[in-house]
Amino acid sequence: MMRAHRTGWLFFLLALCVLPPWRVALAQQAADVPYVSTPSNVVAAMLEMALVTADDYLIDLGSGDGRIVIEAAKKSGARGMGVELDANLVYMANEAAKRQGVAGQVRFVEGSLFNADISKTTVLTMYLLPNINLQLRPRILGQMRPGARVVSHDFDMGGWKPDLHREVAVPNKSYGRPVSQIYLWYVPANVAGKWQWRLPVGGATRLYEARIDQTFQELSDEVLVEGGGATSRGARLRGDLITLDLVREFFGQKVTHEFSGRVEGDRIVGRARISGGGNNATLAWEATRVERGMMRIDQESITK
Ligand SMILES: C[S@@+](CC[C@H](N)C(=O)[O-])C[C@H]1O[C@@H](n2cnc3c(N)ncnc32)[C@H](O)[C@@H]1O
Repeated sequence: MMRAHRTGWLFFLLALCVLPPWRVALAQQAADVPYVSTPSNVVAAMLEMALVTADDYLIDLGSGDGRIVIEAAKKSGARGMGVELDANLVYMANEAAKRQGVAGQVRFVEGSLFNADISKTTVLTMYLLPNINLQLRPRILGQMRPGARVVSHDFDMGGWKPDLHREVAVPNKSYGRPVSQIYLWYVPANVAGKWQWRLPVGGATRLYEARIDQTFQELSDEVLVEGGGATSRGARLRGDLITLDLVREFFGQKVTHEFSGRVEGDRIVGRARISGGGNNATLAWEATRVERGMMRIDQESITK
């Protein structure tokens, strides 16, 4: 025991002599998650669910032997990066990328997943632990762009419900039931607040006003047309794509409105399908946010 303690110190002193200070700090940092690799059928299902293409930039946080990033590059032509604390695994992953002919597309770096810049990531993959996922959640929602995808093997994100969930058989799983869970989220745009737009419907150009309340990607809305109530059939958000359906009576006749568009900051640009009461048209739809609100993320709220 005494000898092991002394050997540890010897290694530490040796590291101080040959490594730069940041490498010494990393070498000392304990892993937050043990190394267990994702089985290849689960890797395939994760990439398939995220619809990874050559346009994607994928980051795997805690990348192990690099299998998820390498497979995304080989299968879809995506570019990517793995961030990993263990220097040996980083070396193995970079060597595997060279052997498999994708070293030009991917790289693996030694570092802590808590410091990784994820702002340009279009697909983020993780096989971590529930408490680590929860710690990463505010950074994912605050830094990644709306519409980017997050895929997690086995662990969810607490109150942030997944947009998709799949179970995959893993006959020789080293813990729990012989199955893996895959969760996928689209990073939601912030659409909270008051929006206005005008539309020529029922013989006049009318003012529409929607107040949207948001918790993660879940929305509740209230819509007024010319200051009068309309019946909302719900607003839904997937990343930066929003749909909003409502019914309003003009001259005693029900007119159905189906709005769909892309959120671009304080603008939504898309189409409105108008039907009923003598209407049958698809019109351009452009809404402007006139009052910005907060996206609730449990206790915290963010505006971006
Ligand atoms: C469960 S393994 C997943 C490996 C790989 N992503 C996969 O799915 O096959 C978790 C990995 O995270 C790494 N890790 C643990 N704590 C870390 C941290 N703070 N920063 C970066 N990597 C970390 C571990 O060394 C391990 O390789």
